[in-house]
Amino acid sequence: MTATGSDPNAQAQAQVRVRVGEANQAGYRRFGLGEFGFSRDDYFVYVSWPTGSHVVSADAFLKALQRDVAWEFFYGIVNFDGVVGTVNHYGTVDLFAGRYNDAWRKAELDHLENFPTPLIRATFAAMLDDWTNAGFDPFASPDETGTAFGPKHGSNTAAVTRHRVTATRMVGLPNDEPLRSDQTGHPVNRQFTDVPQDEPIVQAQPGFQGLVHGFNLFKYLSRSDVTWNPSVVSVCRDSLYCPTTEEYILPIIHGNDRVEWFLQLSDTIIWEVEDRDSGAVRSRVTMHPGDVAAMPADIRHQGYAPKRSMLLVWENADTNLPHLISTGQLPTNPIDY
Ligand code: PHB
Ligand code: FE
Repeated sequence: MTATGSDPNAQAQAQVRVRVGEANQAGYRRFGLGEFGFSRDDYFVYVSWPTGSHVVSADAFLKALQRDVAWEFFYGIVNFDGVVGTVNHYGTVDLFAGRYNDAWRKAELDHLENFPTPLIRATFAAMLDDWTNAGFDPFASPDETGTAFGPKHGSNTAAVTRHRVTATRMVGLPNDEPLRSDQTGHPVNRQFTDVPQDEPIVQAQPGFQGLVHGFNLFKYLSRSDVTWNPSVVSVCRDSLYCPTTEEYILPIIHGNDRVEWFLQLSDTIIWEVEDRDSGAVRSRVTMHPGDVAAMPADIRHQGYAPKRSMLLVWENADTNLPHLISTGQLPTNPIDY
């Protein structure tokens, strides 16, 4: 299959060849990337490479795949689970199995291949679209979506290709990402009916009209229809405010290549924090409203949200950071006490 269609991005990459096989008995196609093979059936996804194989629940795999695709492979490492994942080198991407898992490493059965970003992106996007059934939304909370399971039935292309909010300056400014309302198809979530819906009154001094802006972030987040999907809502050079609403479990285990700050805006999230390379347990961080945490650059983390909650993720997009940290020119933690 060749990536084409009306998407200009896909057209620009028309020479990217996705390796896709015939549909199996369950109706799902098989995909190949380098020496990796991917297939799914009613319940599971099977990943194979020359020295091993792995099985993952189909819903967990699709939720992780959805985020890896939508986030352009994110910052650093996206572990789908303790075995399979990707490392972003910002232009190329490693696909690995067992590389960040002590047991697979010691047995020398781990495997890693590097791909140009357009090839792995097109392969993952095609797999996500083929394997997502009608009624299943990989971004939705478990309580707000249908099932991922069963033989192939229909598709949900609108959900798996939905626009990711990335403001250039701040949401709500002219020519930037719009605010959310009933009219834009963003009703208040069932868990956030108590969130005030007023907007601030901005009175700019003469000469500053159009330069001063503000919006109600709590209202904005109360109308999010997705979970575990940070939106860039404001940008100040490399400082990105990426708030998100969370419910149930972060579908990836994120391995950092820089420090990330978390500010808990509402409710509770429990973070399991592990060593990035071995997976050894490092700590558990339970965050309540108002709590601030800095996640070091040498860990991986996965969040658990018992109720839908609001979290501000603060990212530093400076492209020099991974190199400065991996070569020891910057520390892995932001503060020494
Ligand atoms: C993270 O890995 O830091 C992360 C990812 C998605 C979220 C929140 C945090 O929704
Ligand atoms: Fe993270």
